[in-house]
Amino acid sequence: MAFLFNSDAERGAVFRSAFVRELPDLPFAIDSATIDPDQVRYVISWTVPHGLECYRNLELLFSVGAGVDQFPLTSIPSEVKVVRMVEDGIIRMMQEYVTLAVLALHRNLPTYLDLQRQRQWRPLLQKQATDQRVGLLGLGVLGRAVLESLKPFGFPLSGWSRSAKTIEGVATYCGQAGLSQMLSEIDILVCLLPLTGDTRGILDRGVFARLPKGAALIHAGRGAQLDHLALLAALDDGHLAGAVIDVTEPEPLPSDHAFWTHPKVLLTPHVASATQAETAARAVIDNIKRYEAGLDLIGLIDRTRGY
Ligand code: NAP
Ligand code: GLV
Repeated sequence: MAFLFNSDAERGAVFRSAFVRELPDLPFAIDSATIDPDQVRYVISWTVPHGLECYRNLELLFSVGAGVDQFPLTSIPSEVKVVRMVEDGIIRMMQEYVTLAVLALHRNLPTYLDLQRQRQWRPLLQKQATDQRVGLLGLGVLGRAVLESLKPFGFPLSGWSRSAKTIEGVATYCGQAGLSQMLSEIDILVCLLPLTGDTRGILDRGVFARLPKGAALIHAGRGAQLDHLALLAALDDGHLAGAVIDVTEPEPLPSDHAFWTHPKVLLTPHVASATQAETAARAVIDNIKRYEAGLDLIGLIDRTRGY
């Protein structure tokens, strides 16, 4: 039985020392050439590793990231359990990013940056946080953590998910009717959905039209969920006031794309959050221990839902 780490060497070194300490009887390999493929029971990788079919005894395939859309699930043998990354570091970073973005939009930062470039000293009317309604698409590990970080500011909060949820202090919605209702009642929309067949292209003209005039978007889910032209049209015709975009399709964003210079857009290069080696190694080790003890895996993917 062995663990294969198929990702960057820097994180690999951190994983190796944690594995040697916590699971000393489980051989750990970074270079697949150094290990008998039949010994490999567990693999961690960002994409499906080349030659996956040689690991005939593979039981768990861990994603390095929270998303698993980069895994073509149909090409992974059905008996292999696919596990996404659920770890404290990635959660904290996403809390920071979305809080930063909500505050930036709330305090008119894109407009002030534009005014600064024009050397204009022009104070704008400032809304109170209690009048700035924030709605999340996705109430999973990251969405719920983000809501907790936003609570102390006093923003009225709401969220939408596939299945119905109850979250203290948050108005929750599900289904298409729930989505329409939530969109009509918020000022800042945050997307933290996984990319699936149902969510591809979800941030479209219809969604933007249902938001009140002057609303803004924060997109930290996956690039393919956003219709760029629809967003640009909604920003340019004045319906939307701003957007903070962390993920695009394609990545990197081509250098002639309108987002780079749009005065209403703050753009970051897919850095909202990232797996942190120390905390991720801890999470993967705990999951292997849970698995070997017959307990449920944390972050197990449901292949029929695709996330
Ligand atoms: P998660 O725990 O699996 O949560 C996903 C949430 O989305 C759940 O609440 C789920 O609803 C909801 N959902 C999925 N499909 C839906 C649909 N068709 N309609 C309505 N709601 C739907 O995932 P997570 O750990 O929070 O991560 C979310 C995503 O964030 C990742 O998949 C990844 O794409 C993105 N991400 C981005 C970055 C970045 O740096 N930009 C970093 C990490 C992650 P239910 O609760 O009903 O299942
Ligand atoms: C990053 O985008 C992740 O899915 O972890």
